[in-house]
Amino acid sequence: MCGIVGCASREHPVPGLLVESLKRLEYRGYDSAGIAVLENGELQTVREVGKIKNLEAAVGGRNLQGRTGIGHTRWATHGKPSERNAHPHRNRDGSLVVVHNGIIENYLELKHGLQATGSVFTSDTDTEVIAHLIDAHYQGDLLTAVQASLKRLEGSYAIAVIHRAEPDVVVGARQDSPLVVGLGEGRNWVASDVSALLPWTRRVVYLEDGEVVVVRSSEVRIFDRGGRVVQREPETITWSAERTEKGGYPHFMLKEIHEQPSTVSDSLLGRLAGDDYRVVLDGLGLDDEELRALTRIGIVACGTSWHAGHVGKFFLEQFARLPVEVDYASESVFREPVMGQKDLMIAISQSGETADTRAALRRAQDLFGAHTLAVCNVPGSSMAREAQGLVLTHAGPEIGVASTKAFMGQLVALLLVAVRIGQARGTISRDTIRELVSGLRRLPHDLERVLKTAAKVQEIAEVWQGARDFLYLGRGVNYPIALEGALKLKEISYIHAEGYPAGEMKHGPIALIDENMPILAIATRGRTYATIAGNVEEAKARGGRIIAVVNPGDDRVARMADHVIEVPEVAEALSPMVNVVPLQLLAYWIAVKRGTDVDQPRNLAKTVTVQ
Ligand code: G6P
Repeated sequence: MCGIVGCASREHPVPGLLVESLKRLEYRGYDSAGIAVLENGELQTVREVGKIKNLEAAVGGRNLQGRTGIGHTRWATHGKPSERNAHPHRNRDGSLVVVHNGIIENYLELKHGLQATGSVFTSDTDTEVIAHLIDAHYQGDLLTAVQASLKRLEGSYAIAVIHRAEPDVVVGARQDSPLVVGLGEGRNWVASDVSALLPWTRRVVYLEDGEVVVVRSSEVRIFDRGGRVVQREPETITWSAERTEKGGYPHFMLKEIHEQPSTVSDSLLGRLAGDDYRVVLDGLGLDDEELRALTRIGIVACGTSWHAGHVGKFFLEQFARLPVEVDYASESVFREPVMGQKDLMIAISQSGETADTRAALRRAQDLFGAHTLAVCNVPGSSMAREAQGLVLTHAGPEIGVASTKAFMGQLVALLLVAVRIGQARGTISRDTIRELVSGLRRLPHDLERVLKTAAKVQEIAEVWQGARDFLYLGRGVNYPIALEGALKLKEISYIHAEGYPAGEMKHGPIALIDENMPILAIATRGRTYATIAGNVEEAKARGGRIIAVVNPGDDRVARMADHVIEVPEVAEALSPMVNVVPLQLLAYWIAVKRGTDVDQPRNLAKTVTVQ
C-alpha cells in the first residue's frame, strides 16, 4: 500500500523520472499522487487526487528542473483521498517534505505533543507527524534529525525525506515496510520496490528494518539502528523493464493471464531431474532428515495466496502425508496455533510484503521455533529474506492488482514442495512422481490450449455481464479454484460472487438459485466428478443457469449446461492450474464489458503492508 520513491541526480532533472517510477508503483495504491523537488533552494510540490496520469499532466505543466526529489502514490489509510491528504507532507515552514508508506500507530499522541509546541497540521494523515517531528529535531543535519525522530515512531514505515537546505540529499528509512536502494551512474534512488527502478538500474541494495539511508547522486550510505555504517554488497535484478509493460495487451491482467504458460515453464526450470522421477528444490532450507522428522505443516496467506494454500493442503496431504492447516494470516496472529520445532510453517505471498502474512511467519519462527518457508514471487522481498527457506514462483513482475500468473506460480511451487517432501518421506511412489512430472512438463502446452477458450468465454461474459450475483461451485482440489474464480469476479467487476464447495450448496446457497443466477460449476473428470454432476442437476432443477467447465467428451454435465467451456484433461492434481484460467478470463471479460478499471479496481491495492 502506497508506493514511495526518491532520487538524487547530478545532472538530470528528476520530476519526469519520479513520475515514471510512480507509474510502476501505482499498483500499490492510486487514491492520489504527488512529488516534491528541490529547485533553486525551494521545495516545489505537485499533488493530485486520483491516478498518476493526473499528476503527470500537472507536472508536465510546471517545467520543473530540480535534481533532488521524492514521490508518492497513495492508498488511503488516515483521511480520505483528497489533495490535502496527498503526499508529500511538509513541516510548518515548508523547509522539508516527507513521503511515507505504512501506519504510524502512535500518531495521535505525537500530534497532540507537536501541536502543543506550535505545529499546525494541514492534513488528516498520520504521515504529517513525521514531517513535524523531523522539523523539531532539525539542527542543520537531516540524517541526525531523521534518526532522532525514528526513535519516537511506533508502527510501520518506509519514508523518504528531503530538506531545502540540503541539496543532493534524500534520507530514507524502513521499519516493516519495504524500501530498496537503486544504484545508478550519477544518480541514486530509494523506492518501495525494484519495479520502480527497472528503467534506470538493476543494481540494488535492500534495506533491513531499522536501517536509514542517505542517498546522494554520487554515493549511498546505510546506517543501522545504532547509527553504525552498514556495508552491503549490491544485488543485480534479472527482471527486465519490458516485463513491467503491457506489450500490446489492453490490460496488464490480460497480458499476465497469457503469460501463464511461461510462468509454469520458468517455475520448472532446474527443478525437475532428467529421469522424471525426482523433484529438485534448492532453497527449501531442510534436508531429507529434517523433512522426515516433520510432524505438521501450517500455511498462512491472504487473498488469492490463501486460495493457493488450500490447493497446497490437498497436495501436501496427498503426497507428503502430513497434516496441514491453512489459516488466514490475519486470523492466525490472534490465535494460539499449536506449532513446534518439528513443524513447518509455509507463508505464501506474491509480494512477500503482506503485513499479516509476514507477522504470522515471524511468529511461527520466533515464538514457536518452527521451520519456515516462504513461497514468494518477489526476490529480495521481506519474506523472501526472513524465512529460513525460499521457493520462488518465477512469475516475473505482476502488475494487475488481481493476481493471476502469480497464483499459477504458487500452485506449481506448492506441488513441487509437496512432491519434494513426499520423496524424502517415502510417501509418494515413483510412478506418481513420474505422472506428475510429465504432466507438469506438458502443462504449458495445455495452458496454451485453455487460452484458446477466450472467444467462448467472451460470449458468456456478454450474456452474464449484467448479473447481480454469481455462484461458483467446485469440489476437492477444485473447491479453492471456485473460491478464486469468485474472488476474481468480485475484485474487478464488482459483481457479488460466492465460491462454495459444491456439496454444501444444498445447505444454504440453493435458496438463492433462480433463473437469474448464473452458476459456474467446475466439473472436470476426477474423483469428484460424479458428485458434482449431481450437484449441477440439483441446481438445474431449481432453474439455475449453468456455466460448466468440463473436459472434452463430457456427456453428462455438458448436456445440462447453458454454456460449456472445454479444457484439456490433465492429472487431477494439475486440474486447478488448467481450470482457473477460464475463470480468470471470465472475470476479465465481464469487467471489460462493464467498463470497470480492470488493472486497478476500486479500493484495492496489490501490496498490503498494513495489518
Ligand atoms: C491483496 C491483493 C491480492 C493478493 C493479496 C495477498 O489483496 O490485491 O491480489 O492475493 O493482497 O497478497 P500477497 O502479496 O501476500 O500474495
